[in-house]
Amino acid sequence: MSDNSILFHNVDLGKLQLKNRVVMAPMTRNLSPNNIPGEKSIEYYRQHAAGGTGLIITEGTCVNHIAANGYPDVPYFHGEERLAGWKKIADTVHAEGGKIAPQLWHCGGARKAGTMPEGDVPGFTPSGMFVAGKVNRYEMTQDDINDVVQAFANGAKDAKALGFDAIEIHGAHGYLIDQFLWEGNNQRDDAYGGSIEKRGRFAVEIIEACRAAVGEDFPILFRYSQWKQQDFTARLAQTPAELEQILTQLSNAGVDVFHCSQRRFWEPEFESSDLNFAGWTKKLTGKPAITVGSVSLNADFIPLPGESTFREAEPASLDELVRRITADEFDLVAVGRAMIANPNWANLVEQDRFDDLQPFRKEDLAAIV
Ligand SMILES: Cc1cc2nc3c(=O)[nH]c(=O)nc-3n(C[C@H](O)[C@H](O)[C@H](O)COP(=O)(O)O)c2cc1C
Repeated sequence: MSDNSILFHNVDLGKLQLKNRVVMAPMTRNLSPNNIPGEKSIEYYRQHAAGGTGLIITEGTCVNHIAANGYPDVPYFHGEERLAGWKKIADTVHAEGGKIAPQLWHCGGARKAGTMPEGDVPGFTPSGMFVAGKVNRYEMTQDDINDVVQAFANGAKDAKALGFDAIEIHGAHGYLIDQFLWEGNNQRDDAYGGSIEKRGRFAVEIIEACRAAVGEDFPILFRYSQWKQQDFTARLAQTPAELEQILTQLSNAGVDVFHCSQRRFWEPEFESSDLNFAGWTKKLTGKPAITVGSVSLNADFIPLPGESTFREAEPASLDELVRRITADEFDLVAVGRAMIANPNWANLVEQDRFDDLQPFRKEDLAAIV
């Protein structure tokens, strides 16, 4: 058995100090009727903070734009009652000794017209597509782009005012920001499409607007991924050089920490080295990086063919994770399904209570608190 103590060292990321390296991965839980995070959400996040998690990244929470949402009962990050709910969550997590960042989200083309409460509003996209090549969504105008940029900035400002410790911008998994980054969804011929640089412009504007809204000292995390929910094999960057081009502009725009979403953290990102996605990101930007993907579990989270829910998995060894952290490949590790099954995952691992770790089961998604 490996020594896991490195996971539980204090970490100083410059603008963000954490009691350990354990992050709760952002996970949509559909717990918020009327899009208000209420008592269930408060208790849910309280349990995760009490369980020893160093940094909680909340489920995706919609910025104040008419087409930001695509799912039932997800929390919004605007409006008095909703923000009051979020303030209670931040206060509760702090009372348990944890830290917390909201994941600011616009789901873009993942929205289907008819999703309530916005009804007929279509999915907003760079080029009318959600699935590459299939035009069946709304193509955003410059005014729409400006509105969404402003909505993210407002969310960032509110997060800071409510007492959150950081924000995470959701730039991953084929949602709106990623749709701009990815040529499979972005066929624009204006300033937001074409070259890697132009495809990154929307993300850059959002990051810069958030930075302007929160000031220099407030941490901004940016989550991104090669894979898309529309296409698990898709890639933003085929080579380290392409990845560097994408990352340099995001980093210069004001990202403090990159959250590098991978399905299996142990997989090398490019053939030329053993480094994973977070490892390459840290190497290319010099910024701290969070890894994620089947940590402490023996199967990744994408459903098996024919299934509609996240894949079940059994507890697995942490040896490879510890080896990579010890080599300083990345700084933090986000845990998803294993933390749904074990809200006290950090405490159990810190105490070497591996036999007490529960497997992840479908039922865990229904049984919240
Ligand atoms: C129920 C569920 C909901 C998720 N919702 C989000 C989300 O809102 N935002 C996000 O960036 N990723 C989301 N993800 C992806 C997770 O953050 C994480 O990257 C993924 O589950 C892989 O980690 P794991 O193998 O430890 O579960 C979700 C995953 C699950 C299982």
